[in-house]
Amino acid sequence: MKLPNFIYNRISFVGAAIAFFFIVAEICLFTLDLVVAKSSAYLEIFTYILLPPFIFVGLFLMFFGAWRARKRFRDNKFDVVGSSKFSFDFSQMGQVRIAAATIAVFTVFLILTIIGTYKSFHYTESVEFCGTLCHSVMKPEHTAYLNSPHAKVTCVECHIGSGVDWYVKSKLSGLRQVFKTIGNSYDRPVATPIHNLRPATETCKQCHWPGKFFGSFDFKREYFLKSGENKSWIIRMMMKVGGSDKFNNGVHAHMNIDQDVYYVADDKRRNVISWVKSVDRKGQATIYTSPDSKYKEKAPPAELIRHMDCIDCHNRPSHNYLPPYKIVNNALQYGAIDRELPGFKAKAVELLSAKYEKAPAAQAAIQAGVVEYYRKDHAAYFAANQKKVEAAGAKLAALYGENMFPEMKTRWDTHDDHIGHFLSHGCFRCHDDQHKAPTGKAITRDCNSCHTVVEQGVPGKTKKNLDGVPFEHPVDIGDAWKEMSCSDCHTGGND
Ligand code: HEC
Ligand code: HEC
Ligand code: HEC
Ligand code: HEC
Ligand code: HEC
Ligand code: HEC
Repeated sequence: MKLPNFIYNRISFVGAAIAFFFIVAEICLFTLDLVVAKSSAYLEIFTYILLPPFIFVGLFLMFFGAWRARKRFRDNKFDVVGSSKFSFDFSQMGQVRIAAATIAVFTVFLILTIIGTYKSFHYTESVEFCGTLCHSVMKPEHTAYLNSPHAKVTCVECHIGSGVDWYVKSKLSGLRQVFKTIGNSYDRPVATPIHNLRPATETCKQCHWPGKFFGSFDFKREYFLKSGENKSWIIRMMMKVGGSDKFNNGVHAHMNIDQDVYYVADDKRRNVISWVKSVDRKGQATIYTSPDSKYKEKAPPAELIRHMDCIDCHNRPSHNYLPPYKIVNNALQYGAIDRELPGFKAKAVELLSAKYEKAPAAQAAIQAGVVEYYRKDHAAYFAANQKKVEAAGAKLAALYGENMFPEMKTRWDTHDDHIGHFLSHGCFRCHDDQHKAPTGKAITRDCNSCHTVVEQGVPGKTKKNLDGVPFEHPVDIGDAWKEMSCSDCHTGGND
């Protein structure tokens, strides 16, 4: 078999060698990726992103060499033996075979390129790529995500959604982030909120449709107390989620269904809201301003106004870093840690709230701290229950690892959760009875507008009534909870 002469030149040889080497490497890696059940992020990045360009470089050199040799020969500058004319003769079996082989090779190559491109695309869309490639940077988001109800929803379904424009935008911003990671100049913690997040209508609403759900749901929590005679306190409420395009009431009603809400935040974190506009279905607008708002007389500039969507309440649907009080309450409520351990809540919250430099050291300190506490302060209990105490220490350390990330300076108090109003203002950013319309109407802080308490008290001795019972604060603080914000006293940690 003889190829046209101008193929035989140095540049084409080098090109062929490179292409051959990388094609063989690709075939091996590709097979490995198919065969290995759980392949690594690095294997994939080599297979689908880093190596393929070299094949193209090799092929390019092959063709470039041939083209150059042929041109030189034509220009009579290069002495090649034999004919330079490229002619094809169907009656010559040899030539037909070469042609068939060339077409076959190119077809296989084309198919592999298509599969490769698809796999590259698919790979850059995977949770593994987004969540683990720059390990330490995305560790908080990825870890919290794996423990969230969205663990089976991919990162890109919320962060990018469908369509080419957002795909390109995200890859460009991804490239910037790669440079920041390589240069070690990324923010710790990663800044939140994401100011250019895709509108929730195009992401969340692909799966959830508040217009189609309505009613209330039952929400029962047990709160373990640090002090006082009651060990714990139960609060059970009906959360008036509402929604529905027919009944339009409840929390979701003020999402596009009943009203469109627009607001202006004075800070980047969107925690201080000074101007709110609610537009009802008839197009009637009501403007509410906070007592010290800059926008009482004149309207705010258009570029500061945000149309409220899902993210303004559900800002942690997938990356919720739980506060110490809740980590401990949940573990005790669901039995992950024995609820009979004396004084556990206070000690555990104190250990979880301390500042640490690195997670492994933090976890060791927490585990040792629990054991040390019982050994010293509850010696008799410790002697009889050493195994239980050690298990509680280990569990608490593990829970720390799921929720706090000292290396990225990320924990509950760096990422406020806007659902509710317990540790940050959340709903009370607007619903504080202080944001008023010119008519005097205020955005309500009535405890029954969003939920109704139907049961509360000490376990076994609770008061129940489906029509609602007036809220009672778990420990006696007089009327303070009516006059102050819950977050004035509650920080979630060791206050
Ligand atoms: C259910 C939807 C959803 C999924 C799935 C999701 N995210 Fe998020 N993510 C969000 C929302 C909402 C925010 C907060 C946006 C805001 O407050 O502006 C966010 C914020 C972030 C932030 C900014 C820092 C922060 O914590 O606010 C990063 C980084 C991030 N996500 C990465 C990821 C990665 C990596 C994955 C996959 C492992 C992922 N996300 C999966 C919805 C999601
Ligand atoms: C690809 C589909 C999908 C997308 C996109 C999606 N979700 Fe979900 N979401 C789910 C599934 C599945 C569940 C779990 C349902 C269940 O078990 O009740 C869920 C659960 C929830 C819950 C209930 C959480 C709980 O604690 O029970 C909330 C709130 C929620 N999603 C909000 C959002 C928000 C906000 C966004 C956009 C940032 C979003 N979702 C995007 C599929 C999705
Ligand atoms: C005004 C605040 C607010 C907005 C805006 C909002 N939600 Fe909710 N949503 C809530 C509250 C409060 C709950 C009750 C759950 C809780 O307290 O964690 C809830 C519950 C949910 C649930 C769980 C419902 C169930 O029955 O299991 C889903 C899913 C959800 N929201 C999706 C969305 C989506 C999608 C959007 C945007 C279209 C949205 N929400 C906008 C406040 C809001
Ligand atoms: C950006 C400001 C803002 C935030 C934040 C906000 N709301 Fe609202 N909310 C409003 C406005 C404005 C109204 C409509 C008041 C009116 O014009 O009737 C409203 C009305 C409501 C209503 C109907 C109340 C009634 O009695 O008619 C419910 C329920 C509600 N919001 C729940 C919530 C919940 C739950 C949260 C937090 C998860 C929340 N809102 C956060 C601005 C806000
Ligand atoms: C604008 C709506 C709204 C108003 C007004 C409101 N709440 Fe809530 N509240 C919520 C939401 C939403 C949650 C759920 C947060 C969550 O999912 O953890 C909540 C949670 C709670 C919890 C449980 C806290 C936790 O983190 O476990 C208590 C207790 C509570 N509210 C009491 C009150 C009291 C008392 C008032 C009146 C002073 C009040 N709420 C007014 C929306 C509201
Ligand atoms: C003046 C300060 C103060 C204010 C304001 C306040 N609380 Fe409390 N709250 C306390 C104290 C003190 C405890 C007891 C802590 C303990 O012993 O563990 C407590 C405990 C609680 C608990 C149990 C917490 C846990 O760690 O499990 C809940 C729930 C609670 N408060 C709800 C509220 C709500 C809702 C509001 C706002 C409407 C509010 N509190 C306002 C001081 C306050």
